[in-house]
Amino acid sequence: MNVFRKIRDYIRQFRQMFRIVRREHMQGKLSPDKDMEDRLLDLNETVKYLEYQCSRLSSIVRYLAAPLIHELPTIQQTRQSFDFQWNKIPEGRFMLSNKEFRKEAPAYVCEFTGLPEGWFKDKKVIDVGCGQGRYSWALCKLGAEVMSVDQSEHGLARTAEACKDYPTHQTLKVDLLKPLPINETFDLVWCFGVLHHTGDTYKAFKNIAPLVKPGGYLFLMLYGEPRKGIANDYAAVNEYEEWRRKTTNMRFDDKLAAITKGMEDGAFAVFGREHIHGYFDAISPAINDLYTEEEIDGWLLDEGFMDIKRTVDTRNHHLIAQRTK
Ligand SMILES: C[S@@+](CC[C@H](N)C(=O)[O-])C[C@H]1O[C@@H](n2cnc3c(N)ncnc32)[C@H](O)[C@@H]1O
Repeated sequence: MNVFRKIRDYIRQFRQMFRIVRREHMQGKLSPDKDMEDRLLDLNETVKYLEYQCSRLSSIVRYLAAPLIHELPTIQQTRQSFDFQWNKIPEGRFMLSNKEFRKEAPAYVCEFTGLPEGWFKDKKVIDVGCGQGRYSWALCKLGAEVMSVDQSEHGLARTAEACKDYPTHQTLKVDLLKPLPINETFDLVWCFGVLHHTGDTYKAFKNIAPLVKPGGYLFLMLYGEPRKGIANDYAAVNEYEEWRRKTTNMRFDDKLAAITKGMEDGAFAVFGREHIHGYFDAISPAINDLYTEEEIDGWLLDEGFMDIKRTVDTRNHHLIAQRTK
């Protein structure tokens, strides 16, 4: 494709420019002020252009690939990876096994949705892609009537166990890329860190949007692209990508062993056994799509949502919107 060739050419040019700048700087040929500044400005604009092009391309490729998506082995791998995770790695810093997280979880729900604690009492909420049920539990604790859905049987079993003290809690196995066997609507559809792992985020979004009652809310947490100028965002995404490639052909047990060893060796940006779960979650599933907020906002507006709010200032998008019709 023409655009791919263009990107490859730009990357080649960028590398060439970078080598020249570095060599000339080492040889003392560049006065640090003018020449260097001009060349860095050039590089900066080139890289920015490339980033925009890559973002635009990934978005187009995702739509083009959508009809084939069920057949891709990466989709099956991603689903199995989560099932393995909920079966074999139930503990982590941000899991219900952690006492601090248990204390913090209901407050996270309020912070991420921007809804006050008192709002949740007796509200009907669906936790879409509940995993092992950490937020289903927090929503029950806040007083909501919760239905938890996921494709992972181990995840659903752990969710049922976590919420067993709440008699109105229900679980259901679903595939978010198929029409959902759910005939009711909800005051809040909560979907944290799920749709970008389905392989067809747009289709999954279209399947869950009708579950919101008129006047109800849709909360989405979706992975975001690195924010321009924020080096840590790039470093985090690059760290995950490097490990994904390194471990891509390993069996899940071997990946877990490699990540555990990496954690012990201090190979990651954070340290401690309680972070192994989070790294496995980020590294092992093959499908991890990143989005711009503008693309998600467009989907929400098209589906009749309004008043879109971004509730947390991080790379990932924490968005809540209200349905008008
Ligand atoms: C990163 S986990 C998030 C779990 C949970 N929301 C949480 O915050 O702990 C993503 C979840 O999406 C589920 N999932 C991925 N693709 C799915 C699909 N097509 N249908 C249903 N669930 C899916 C996985 O099984 C997994 O439990």
